[in-house]
Amino acid sequence: VRRATVRTIAARKGGDPVVCLTAYTAPMAGLLDPHVDLLLVGDSLGMVVYGLPTTLGVTVDMMIAHGQAVMRGSQRACVIVDLPFGSYQESPQQAFRTAARVMAETGCAGVKLEGGREMAETVAFLVGRGIPVLGHVGLKPQSVNAAGGFRAHGRDPAEAEAIVEDARAVAAAGAFALVLEGTVEPLARTVTAAVPCPVIGIGASPACDGQVLVSDDLLGLFGAFTPRFVKRYAELGAQVSEAAAAYAAEVTARRFPGPEHCFKGPATAPSRDAG
Ligand code: KIV
Ligand code: NA
Repeated sequence: VRRATVRTIAARKGGDPVVCLTAYTAPMAGLLDPHVDLLLVGDSLGMVVYGLPTTLGVTVDMMIAHGQAVMRGSQRACVIVDLPFGSYQESPQQAFRTAARVMAETGCAGVKLEGGREMAETVAFLVGRGIPVLGHVGLKPQSVNAAGGFRAHGRDPAEAEAIVEDARAVAAAGAFALVLEGTVEPLARTVTAAVPCPVIGIGASPACDGQVLVSDDLLGLFGAFTPRFVKRYAELGAQVSEAAAAYAAEVTARRFPGPEHCFKGPATAPSRDAG
């Protein structure tokens, strides 16, 4: 099986929507892989897997460990790994060192980094040196402190114009596609029309060239909060609770394990000097 490449994703502008989900572990990557074009090892894993309050505490080592797991578990999706907070913002050189390490140690197809005009030079630096970059503009979770919390972006016309300029700059710098997060619908439409690369929306618009969701949100596994833009396609969290409760009840009542769960063997008489 050949994996989808960043070129096949880039060629989808204006065509069939690009289907993306996040993945953090090998078994989940294997389940999602047949159904998606792109698996994103998002730094959302800090919140979803590690219980951190934001994505700011995620490290490069965490991203590499989970990137390796997702690569092992998948075979046909294009796998992109997020660069975490603090590992790329300082300079194009710092970004290159981090991205090169992530790509070399995971075998992923490229990296994602958050930022607009201020990161355009870095995007061009990476792309020019063989590192495909997925951009990320609009709501940027790594900038949650500067932005004053998680909120929809682009209601204010000046803010909307800034996001269009950010998208243009990152696309012009060579990003193969852009994630557009948490923006009002008309702005997402405008951004999608304004750039030549696919725009992958999350809390953006059906007019985008593709969609991405955090898998744990879509599966009903992440209960901390459900943003408006999440559609829950399953309630696995409730199933996990029910399964654990049923197991606890059966263990307590000595109904589990049953005879079918026990290894057969010769009957042994209790030893006299046991205990
Ligand atoms: O970290 C993440 O999961 C992301 C997506 C939600 C786009 O950046
Ligand atoms: Na992210």
